[in-house]
Amino acid sequence: MILKGKKVILRPVRLSDAPRFVKWLNDPEVHKFLQTRRHLTLAFEKKWLRGALTSNANKIFAIQTLDNVHIGSTSLEINRDHDRATFGIFIGDKRYWNKGLGSEAARLIIDYGFTKLKLHRIELGVLEYNPRAIKVYRRLGFKREGIKHDFIKFRGKYFDDYHMAILDREWKKRS
Ligand SMILES: CC(C)(COP(=O)(O)OP(=O)(O)OC[C@H]1O[C@@H](n2cnc3c(N)ncnc32)[C@H](O)[C@@H]1OP(=O)(O)O)[C@@H](O)C(=O)NCCC(=O)NCCS
Repeated sequence: MILKGKKVILRPVRLSDAPRFVKWLNDPEVHKFLQTRRHLTLAFEKKWLRGALTSNANKIFAIQTLDNVHIGSTSLEINRDHDRATFGIFIGDKRYWNKGLGSEAARLIIDYGFTKLKLHRIELGVLEYNPRAIKVYRRLGFKREGIKHDFIKFRGKYFDDYHMAILDREWKKRS
């Protein structure tokens, strides 16, 4: 499944993407916004990807520019019992931040989640010191439902994690 926008294309992730993911996820400027393992190894990432690629519960797309540069990834981790999914996104190549690509990639996968996968609810977690991501999510219609206080420890200080969600009826009303 390929999802095409005006600025990005979402294509299925491949095992051969693993070295780029390792490089990006080990970059402290990217990693600080995510809740992934520290010091990710290629072996770990390949094992994780193999599992994810064979699971129906995970829809993971590579984010590419229109000229086919792979810049990041976005995913839905699906719970079919309750028709809900946890959304995640990162652009690992920092040269592509703040150009509207993340907003479009998020809109494409969320629309796919509600219209094609018939999800009822999509939720996410975002750290309090990530105003850029929070802006993107608010603009798409996500609402803050709660706060996990002092959820992560970063450089010796504790920070909150905001829990945000959007329902299918809210998405359809906006689009
Ligand atoms: C979060 C992320 C996916 C957003 O994608 P992006 O392409 O960089 O974002 P966009 O350009 O679509 O939109 C960002 C918006 O935030 C604004 N912004 C940027 N820095 C900001 C800041 N410090 N405070 C407030 N707003 C900010 C931008 O101006 C832009 O708004 P605009 O379109 O009205 O000008 C991307 O930056 C990323 O992957 N970051 C690192 C990993 C990460 O944070 N992942 C999300 C974890 S929850």
